[in-house]
Amino acid sequence: MRQMYSIQLAMMTGLLIILVAGAFALIQSPEMLESPRMEAMVVAQKIPHPIQGHENCESCHGLKGMKPYPIKHLGWKNESCTKCHR
Ligand code: HEC
Ligand code: HEC
Repeated sequence: MRQMYSIQLAMMTGLLIILVAGAFALIQSPEMLESPRMEAMVVAQKIPHPIQGHENCESCHGLKGMKPYPIKHLGWKNESCTKCHR
C-alpha cells in the first residue's frame, strides 16, 4: 500500500514540474504559439513606424529606451515582436 502512494506521489510531482516548466517556456518564448488567433495579437498595438531601418526594437523599446515596452516583454527577442505587433 505504501509503495503505491509513493509511486503516485512521484508521478504527480513529475507532472507538476513539466507543467511549470512549460508555463515558463511559454512566458520566455511567446513565438512558440503560432496560432494567428492568439488574444495577445489582437490587443497588441500596431507598429506606427516602418520596420525597415527599425529592426533593432530593443534600442528604442528596451527599458532604458525612449519608448519602453511593458515589463513583461523583458527578454523577448527582436524577431518575436512582429508576431504580435504588425
Ligand atoms: C529608432 C527608434 C525605434 C526603433 C528601432 C523601433 N521603434 Fe517602435 N516606436 C518608436 C517611437 C518613438 C514610438 C512612438 C511613436 C508614436 O507614438 O508616434 C514607437 C512606437 C511603437 C509601438 C506603438 C506603441 C504605442 O504606444 O502604441 C509599437 C508597437 C512599436 N513601436 C513596436 C516596435 C517594434 C516591433 C520594433 C522593431 C521591429 C520597433 N518598434 C523599433 C521608436 C522606435
Ligand atoms: C505575445 C505577443 C507580444 C509580443 C511577442 C510582443 N508584444 Fe509588445 N505588446 C503586446 C501587448 C498585448 C501589448 C499591450 C499592452 C500591455 O501588455 O500592457 C504590448 C505593448 C507594447 C508596447 C507599449 C505600448 C504602449 O502603449 O505603451 C510596446 C512599445 C511594445 N509592445 C513593443 C514590443 C517590442 C519591441 C517587442 C519585441 C521585443 C514586443 N512588443 C513583443 C504583445 C506582444
